[in-house]
Amino acid sequence: MRHLISPLDFSVEELSDLLDLANDIEKNPETYAHKCEGKKLATLFYEPSTRTRLSFEAAMHNLGGNVIGFATADSSSAAKGESVSDTIRIVSCYADICAMRHPKEGAATVASLKSGIPVINAGDGGHQHPTQTLTDLLTIRSLKGRLDHITIGLCGDLKFGRTVHSLINALVRYEDVKFVLISPPELRVPDYIREEVLKGFDFEEVTDLEQAMPKLDILYMTRVQKERFFNEDDYIRMKDCYILDKAKMSLAKEDMLVLHPLPRVNEISVEVDDDPRAAYFKQVQYGVYVRMALILRLLELA
Ligand code: CP
Repeated sequence: MRHLISPLDFSVEELSDLLDLANDIEKNPETYAHKCEGKKLATLFYEPSTRTRLSFEAAMHNLGGNVIGFATADSSSAAKGESVSDTIRIVSCYADICAMRHPKEGAATVASLKSGIPVINAGDGGHQHPTQTLTDLLTIRSLKGRLDHITIGLCGDLKFGRTVHSLINALVRYEDVKFVLISPPELRVPDYIREEVLKGFDFEEVTDLEQAMPKLDILYMTRVQKERFFNEDDYIRMKDCYILDKAKMSLAKEDMLVLHPLPRVNEISVEVDDDPRAAYFKQVQYGVYVRMALILRLLELA
């Protein structure tokens, strides 16, 4: 039985196959419409979500399966003190596969150790968000045609942004990927990313978005993660540190892509939404296809 806890749980070849499957699902949805009949997905969300939970649910429905679950910790027996380990043992009796989001780093790993069903990490604290990474990789490969030979700028809250950590982990495995890490000094990537994951790779850390713009093939914007700050004053000071607008877009390559895991707050002005390079709403649709592919692979149905 396989789980997806980290983007590195799939080899580069397996990832390529998974993205191929997602592209085929996009082109031929009817072929997959009944693949999960009789199967149940449990969505265990201890933290708020719109995209991840609903795209998992849409994915399972698109495959002909059913969905059970909870959307807040308060509406589950976690509110009475039940542990993640016990919860997953219970859910293993009800469902065939589960997607779990939890505020604590490592919660999905803990669940996988006691689970009788595949566990998908749908975000664990500020640590990893591997299915967002699958979404990002599918978006980049589908719209750019490649995952190698790119310069990607990651901008905003690189300290707490788990989507950034997962994406860097995944992209270092492709040839000639250059990273431009754009953040205020207080929101730089964690030391382990700089000193272990990025060690030996081509990366630079900068504070100025405008200066970085002309060299980027991809700009990955992120929200300042209010929920992970200990001090509200720090959040208020940094929340609008980068705002992508038309003026900054005029500095970018004509074929640069703007990605964002969403939700956005102020970091991308709505005036950018109509720019053909704005790919963040297309990215959401790719998230459904890749989660359909993931469910099929983990259930060994494709
Ligand atoms: N991208 C993402 O994880 O969005 P949600 O928090 O809405 O699931």
